[in-house]
Amino acid sequence: MAKSVLITEPIIPSVIEKLEKRYQVDVGEPGTYNDEQILADDIPAYDALLPMLSNPVTEKVIAAGSNLEIIANHAVGYNNIDLEAAQKHNVAVANTPDVLTDSCAEFTLGLMLAVSRRLFEAQKYLLEGKFNNWEPLGFLGKELNDSTLGVIGMGRIGTGVARRAKALGMDIIYHNRSKVDPDLEQELDAQYCSTVQELVKQSDIVTLHCPLTDETHHLINEEILSLMPEDTILINTSRGAVVDEEALAHALHNGSIGGAGLDVFENEPELHPKLKTAPNCIRTPHIASASFQTRKAIGMLAADAIIGILEGKPTSEIPNL
Ligand code: DGY
Repeated sequence: MAKSVLITEPIIPSVIEKLEKRYQVDVGEPGTYNDEQILADDIPAYDALLPMLSNPVTEKVIAAGSNLEIIANHAVGYNNIDLEAAQKHNVAVANTPDVLTDSCAEFTLGLMLAVSRRLFEAQKYLLEGKFNNWEPLGFLGKELNDSTLGVIGMGRIGTGVARRAKALGMDIIYHNRSKVDPDLEQELDAQYCSTVQELVKQSDIVTLHCPLTDETHHLINEEILSLMPEDTILINTSRGAVVDEEALAHALHNGSIGGAGLDVFENEPELHPKLKTAPNCIRTPHIASASFQTRKAIGMLAADAIIGILEGKPTSEIPNL
C-alpha cells in the first residue's frame, strides 16, 4: 500500500504533484490543523506530515502518529514542533534553511524603508484627500544612509539583511550567541555587541533575526525598550514572542521609540489590541517569505526530505534534517 502524506494546507501545486506521484496525499483546509486535537485525531493515518508553522506539532500529536516517520516543516523556524517528543518517538524533523534567506532579507529591508520614510502613513494621507499642498516639512523621515543597524541574530537571514543594509550605507552592529567568522565581520565592517543592552543604545534601527527559544522569549521587553533612543525603529520578521508586545505597544503609544515594522505576532493570527492602534507601526501578516520562488523552494525542500525518509535514504544524505 502506498505511504501517505498529510500536507496541512494548500501549498504550491507542483510540490503537491511531486509527492502525489509517489504517495497518497491529503491536503487540509486552511487553518484546520491549527487545532492540536484535530491534528492528533487525524495523524494516525499518515507516514509523513508536512505542517505549517501555525500547526502545533506537540507531544500529543507526535505520540498519536503511530506510523509517523517524518515531520517536514514548511518553514525554517520550528518552534511549533516539540523536538524532544519527535526524538523520543523516533520521528525525523526537517526544516527549510537557506531557501528563504533572500526573500526574508528583502522583505525586512522593505519594512525598514517603509517605516523610516513613513510610506503607509503618507499613502493614507493622500488617499484621505489631505494632499492639498506640497509641504517642505511634510512626512520627514530618517534616511538609512549613515545610520546604524543593530542586528540581533546574525544567522543566514540576519547576515542577508546586514549585507543589503551595508549596500545602502548603513553601519552594522550585531549581537549573536557568539561572534561571527572574522571574514564576515570584515566584509560587513560589523561591530560585535556582547549584550542586547549595548546594541540597542547605539542603533537607529534594531532588527530581530533570532529563533524563538526559552532564552529569546520576550527578549525585547520593557527594560530593553527603555534603553532605545526615542527615534529608534524596531523591525521584527523572526517570531512574535521575541517581543513583549504589551511593552512595545506602550513604547509606541508613548512615543518613547520612533516606530516599528512587524511581520510576526505572539498570538498569530491575533493582533495585540494595543498594537492595532499603535502609531508609526506597520503590521503585515507573516509574509516575509511570501514570494513565488521562495514558497516553491520551501515546499520542494520539505517534499525532498519526506521522499528521502520514506524511501529509506540515510539521514546523513538529507541535508535539512
Ligand atoms: C519561517 O520559515 O520560519 C518563516 O517565518 C516563514 O515566513
